[in-house]
This record gives sequence, C-alpha cells and structure tokens, in this order.
Amino acid sequence: MRAIYSVGALILAAAAFGLAQQAQKPVENPPPAAAGTVMSNPHYEISEEDKARKNPLPFTDVSVERGRKLFASQCAMCHGATGDGKGELAKDMNVTLPDFTKPATLQKRTDGELFKILSLGNEAMPPQDKRMSEIHRWQIINFLRAAGGAVPKKSTGQEVTDEQYVEAH
Ligand code: HEC
Repeated sequence: MRAIYSVGALILAAAAFGLAQQAQKPVENPPPAAAGTVMSNPHYEISEEDKARKNPLPFTDVSVERGRKLFASQCAMCHGATGDGKGELAKDMNVTLPDFTKPATLQKRTDGELFKILSLGNEAMPPQDKRMSEIHRWQIINFLRAAGGAVPKKSTGQEVTDEQYVEAH
C-alpha cells in the first residue's frame, strides 16, 4: 500500500512540476528605459489566478493606516505621500507616474492584480516579493483603495497581527 501511495505522490509531484513549468512563462519586461525617457504602462505578466486572488484583510481604517505608514517609507519617494505620483525620486528619474488619488486610476485593477504588480515590480520599481511580507503588501493595497477615495470600515479591533497572519498562511 505504502509503495502505491508514494508512486502516486511521485506522479502528482511530476504533474505539479509540469504545470508549474507551464505557468512560469518568462516575465516579459520592457527594455530598460534610456535616461530621460518617460516610462508608461509597463507590461506585467498577470495570470487569471493572480487576478482572482482576494485580499485576505478586511478593508478597515486600521489596515489602511498600517498601509499608509508602509507606503510612506517604501513608495512615497516615487508615488508621493498621498499617491498622487509626485514623489521626488520620480522627478529625478524623469518618470511620469499614475495619480492613485483619482478613483479611476486603479479602479480596473483587482486587489490580486495589484498584489502581483507590487510583488513583480517593474524596471523602475523594486519588486517586493522578497522585501516585504504578504500582510504588508495587502495593507498597502488597502491604503491604495483609500487613496483612491474608497471609505474603509471602522475597525472592529480584530485585525490580525503579522504573527497571526504568518501562522494562518
Ligand atoms: C523607484 C520608484 C518607485 C518606487 C519606489 C515604487 N514605484 Fe510603483 N511604479 C513606479 C513606476 C515607474 C511605475 C510604472 C508607471 C506606469 O504605469 O507608467 C509604477 C507602477 C506602480 C503600480 C501600477 C499602476 C498600474 O495600475 O499600472 C502600482 C500599483 C505601484 N506602482 C505601487 C507601488 C507601491 C505600493 C510601492 C511601494 C511598495 C511602489 N509602487 C514603489 C515607480 C516606483
């Protein structure tokens, strides 16, 4: 019986590996922008599964506030403290950034899509997948929604801590 199980497990593992290989198409990054060029609409490799991924954090004032702090230290230099795209570094790099304070800017992006974009980064924006924990990325996404005018719910005081999040995922 044991042997049959492990053969089965091997086949499953091989199948999963094959699928993973297929899913991992090379990331098509745009060619590096020459100094002084204005970057717009970089291409991100985002699957339907990424798009459908739900934000595990409730959209509350506490999680928005946590996201705001992270955004201030990790993103505002380019995207501006409010998300308006007017950060100092963006000026220096001569890139034009989208204005996240306009509700339309991120409206068509799902939370899952934003999570993937943050994780991948682009030629100018550092990828966060190895730099920032998942819960912090989701908190920033809640902040981005608030920056775009969505009104968060009042906290119930039940927000998970970083440790609880790590245990649950
Ligand atoms: C070094 C500058 C820089 C930093 C730091 C940076 N970004 Fe970006 N970001 C960019 C550039 C450039 C783009 C591409 C702009 C475009 O779409 O034309 C971008 C695009 C994005 C987009 C995609 C918008 C869309 O719908 O296409 C999101 C969301 C975003 N950034 C969020 C963040 C967050 C959150 C952080 C902090 C964790 C961050 N960025 C840090 C430069 C930066």
